[in-house]
Amino acid sequence: MRIIQVSDLHIGGLFKQESFDILVKEVNDELKPDVLIISGDLTDDGLYFQFEQAKRELSKFTCKNIIIFPGNHDYRHTGYLVFREFFPSASALGSKVYKFSDPKNPNHSIIVTTVGTARADRDEGEVGYRQNLWLNKVLKKYGNSWDPKGKGAATATTTTSTTDNQKKTVTKIVAMHHHLIAIPDTGYTNVVGISDAGDVLTTCQANNVDLVICGHKHRPWLWDFGKMKIAYAGTACSWRYRGVFEDTYNIIDLEDGKSMKIDIKIVGGERMPLSEIVKRYDPEARVTHIADMMSPH
Ligand SMILES: [Fe+2]
Ligand SMILES: [Fe+2]
Repeated sequence: MRIIQVSDLHIGGLFKQESFDILVKEVNDELKPDVLIISGDLTDDGLYFQFEQAKRELSKFTCKNIIIFPGNHDYRHTGYLVFREFFPSASALGSKVYKFSDPKNPNHSIIVTTVGTARADRDEGEVGYRQNLWLNKVLKKYGNSWDPKGKGAATATTTTSTTDNQKKTVTKIVAMHHHLIAIPDTGYTNVVGISDAGDVLTTCQANNVDLVICGHKHRPWLWDFGKMKIAYAGTACSWRYRGVFEDTYNIIDLEDGKSMKIDIKIVGGERMPLSEIVKRYDPEARVTHIADMMSPH
């Protein structure tokens, strides 16, 4: 089962059409994901003509399962109203549950829960009390440490039941635009992340979430807490670089419900484990070229 996260297209003046076209080609022809997630900031300013272009560009992807939700840039200039017109499959708030069966393993399913963090004409994000309760309710169905019947806290994925000696496993992914936890070189946390991160982190941990994916600040990163990982995607095709100066996106491979492999890929270039970004982080570097990290030192 392969999931690809493409983030922060920023269609508008800083959009890189050439990179986007290469991205579409390699996703469609080479990587062929089962699910494609577009995690917000489709547009640069939330303007009508930018949404028209976003719709046009995103229709080039041939993946059957495309999940789209808004970012803070999409909610500028009443974009929060326009977004719904162009992408009615995303819920009004951005929160929705998607369930997929692993094509290679009928006993493994994947739950992707999108959480709306963008608010009208605001750069900072929040999940909010009610949406956080909703998230808990949705995830709880698949095992929760608060629930005495919940299982699976110690496994890579949550074991829900057994049938014919085959363990049924569920991988739980939560997707949001803003950062759940701050990462280096991205400025002040009230603009970078969600204001109620403590509540949402608690919900994710209590429900044995395997992976949280975020976009927003165009800085690829990975927080690895063992059972739960938080992966951040860079910008896939815009000039809005921050510290890392390549167009990148993330590839998540779930093998048989047992292990999760998260890679970062340069558009039109190499790929490597996302964890290498953290291992090779240099706090004194002003400009990071991932391509240099990928070539042998
Ligand atoms: Fe962005
Ligand atoms: Fe953003």
